[in-house]
Amino acid sequence: MMRLFCFTSLMFILVGMAYSDDGMDLNKNSRAETGGAQTLEDILARQRGEEVNYNFRKSALGKEGLESDTISPLGTMGLVSDAEVFRQLRYNKADINVSSKSAASEILVQDSGMNWLNLREGPLQKYGALSLIGMIGLLAFFFLIRGRIPVENGLSGITIERFKPIERFAHWLLASSFILLGLTGLLTLFGRNFLIPMIGHETFSSLALASKWIHNNVSWAFMASLVVIFIFWVAHNIPTRLDIKWILNGGGMFSSHSHPSARKFNAGQKIIFWVVILLGASVSASGLSLLFPFEFPMFAATFAKMNSLGLPSLFGIESLPTNLLPHEEMQLSQVWHTIVAFIMMVVIIAHIYIGSVGMAGAYDAMGSGQVDVNWAKQHHDIWEEELSKKNSNSTPKDTDAITPAE
Ligand code: HEM
Repeated sequence: MMRLFCFTSLMFILVGMAYSDDGMDLNKNSRAETGGAQTLEDILARQRGEEVNYNFRKSALGKEGLESDTISPLGTMGLVSDAEVFRQLRYNKADINVSSKSAASEILVQDSGMNWLNLREGPLQKYGALSLIGMIGLLAFFFLIRGRIPVENGLSGITIERFKPIERFAHWLLASSFILLGLTGLLTLFGRNFLIPMIGHETFSSLALASKWIHNNVSWAFMASLVVIFIFWVAHNIPTRLDIKWILNGGGMFSSHSHPSARKFNAGQKIIFWVVILLGASVSASGLSLLFPFEFPMFAATFAKMNSLGLPSLFGIESLPTNLLPHEEMQLSQVWHTIVAFIMMVVIIAHIYIGSVGMAGAYDAMGSGQVDVNWAKQHHDIWEEELSKKNSNSTPKDTDAITPAE
């Protein structure tokens, strides 16, 4: 009995020692024991759902600068283990002989792909969809409480030219290409998860191919019309002090009687213009980098500039990574392209609302190019005044801009 008691106590002490700090430290000592590979504690932490820092693997690559020709394909690998070879491949340290000379072909393994996939299938889809639905809901609510903004003094029957045919052509080219890009982009992002269960793989495959073709080719029309729109309208969209008054007045959107003064474009339209131009340029740049894979890496250089300006520290981040794999560049381009496109879609949905159902008389500006004088006086009083002064001083031939409605 006494012997049994002594034996049990000894076992408890040994087990206690093994798990105590002084005994077997699962974190520290066993790393050396595993030859630099992951430890039991790493595995347990991963199973508990905790974040595990795997940086230690990067330095456990076996013989430095492993040369592929030192290892005979059919021979033994000497002191090099399989695990070390795979870690060398994973951290892009193995000397690989590839026939293709593309930047990406020498990288056989990159684990940032899983993070990208999770981001694309998770937050990007979730918050993207919520932002679009949220904006449509907000506009529906606004329409319910405010209704269609009327032309307060009624239509005068006299119209003036607001946009020339060439301006309208550029606008509609921009608008139709944007809508096609938006729809095909959404199909690419959501199709796999939402359309395949509904229409099956075969049909989705044809749809996805057509969608990709449209998206890739229509992008040129979008970029070209973006440049034309910029040239036509930039002079009218330089911010002025008048814009501050317009914004402080809520653009007169929330009251029926106050209408802040505006020239050709009011502050709200200037915001739309700059969002379209700046985000349009950004979505085009990231789109081009996706269209020509690995040819236009942009993020490492941008991150380096941001680091040198100290921008990351404003967000509590020490620095942004500047040593990116070609694949990581592509993943970042895709994420950026999608985020920027969603912001644009949200803003453009509001623009489409106000240019069609939200405001009486607005659509004509882009439809026929002629707007009623009373509409112009209500929303762009300074522009209307300047235009009618110009017209009354000009020769009869130039007064074509003013047309009595039939
Ligand atoms: C498809 C539906 C659309 C409709 C009904 C529409 C309507 C209009 C109208 C009526 C105007 C002139 C406003 C005025 O006279 O002051 C305008 C201007 C403009 N549109 Fe559109 N538009 C549409 C789509 C788009 C799209 C998709 C874009 C860009 C991607 C866009 C970009 C612009 C810009 C930059 C302006 C000048 C600034 C402004 O008025 O906000 N439009 N649009």
